[in-house]
Amino acid sequence: MHRIILDTDPGIDDALAFFLALASPEIQLEAITTVSGNVDVEQTTRNALTLLQLLDRGDIPVARGSRYPIVRTPVEATEVHGANGLGNIELPPLKLQPIAQHAADLIIEKVHQYPGEITLVAIGPLTNLALALRKEPGLAQHVREVVIMGGAVRVPGNVTPCAEFNIFADPHAAHMVFHAGWPLRLVSLDVTQLVTFAREHIEEFTRSGGVVKDCIRQVTSFYFERFAPFYGISTFQMHDPLCLATVFQPDLVTWEEAYVDVELHGTLTLGETVAYFNDYNRPDKPNMRVSSAVDAERFIRLYVERIEQAWT
Ligand code: BDR
Ligand code: CA
Repeated sequence: MHRIILDTDPGIDDALAFFLALASPEIQLEAITTVSGNVDVEQTTRNALTLLQLLDRGDIPVARGSRYPIVRTPVEATEVHGANGLGNIELPPLKLQPIAQHAADLIIEKVHQYPGEITLVAIGPLTNLALALRKEPGLAQHVREVVIMGGAVRVPGNVTPCAEFNIFADPHAAHMVFHAGWPLRLVSLDVTQLVTFAREHIEEFTRSGGVVKDCIRQVTSFYFERFAPFYGISTFQMHDPLCLATVFQPDLVTWEEAYVDVELHGTLTLGETVAYFNDYNRPDKPNMRVSSAVDAERFIRLYVERIEQAWT
């Protein structure tokens, strides 16, 4: 069993990851922490609460996190996710509320409550994790694992030619998290952009309807109609759901040890993830395992099966 805190910026693919977490018996979702990323933290918090409300899971605490990145000015991804982060679907009136605690404090509290048991699954910019580390420097020793969707190791970025969105949106936070000395896995664009859903496939498997399947179909419509044609993409990339799945099925992905750093000074390369694989030139010992290949078909099958089983 994996006790996780999902640190997230919903986000269309964040929403799909969230459904997978709740559909997977291997996962015990202890809390959701929100951060500015795809849209600002007010909206990502609202979105997280809306998704919980949809599933009648108001028992899971949601803690609002950082509005601003550690150093840089905020960037958003509304062109991918819509102005409200969930593909501009109409959001119902909200009955749930976030807890009063800041996300960083909730992370610290939960890690101390379950020493050595919490996995932090970060599918947005890493600001909350960095703040938690700064506030509680001993934190890293008590976390079971950190699994991050972020970076572009051997492939180009998706927001600049060098950088992936989550790292670009808060590179200084990523730098702190990468060097904190905790067990870390990086699920990067190298594999996440290979796990894709065709629109016809989504339509086929959501045809039987119900709140979750309807939501999946509706939020992804924006991506297919507004974002994808403009960028010449025809399928939906399952970045965040793949990251979540590797928590409990790590063998979906091939892993390699590496020392990975983040570019903080380049005017053209800010947020680039620079990985050293070889002993001879590596500045330090490996600080993480990075994803280098994926069984994409097996992952998509797993995703569909889990949603089917949980919400037929
Ligand atoms: C990441 O950026 C966000 O837009 C997605 O939700 C995902 O976490 C992919 O680069
Ligand atoms: Ca995300």
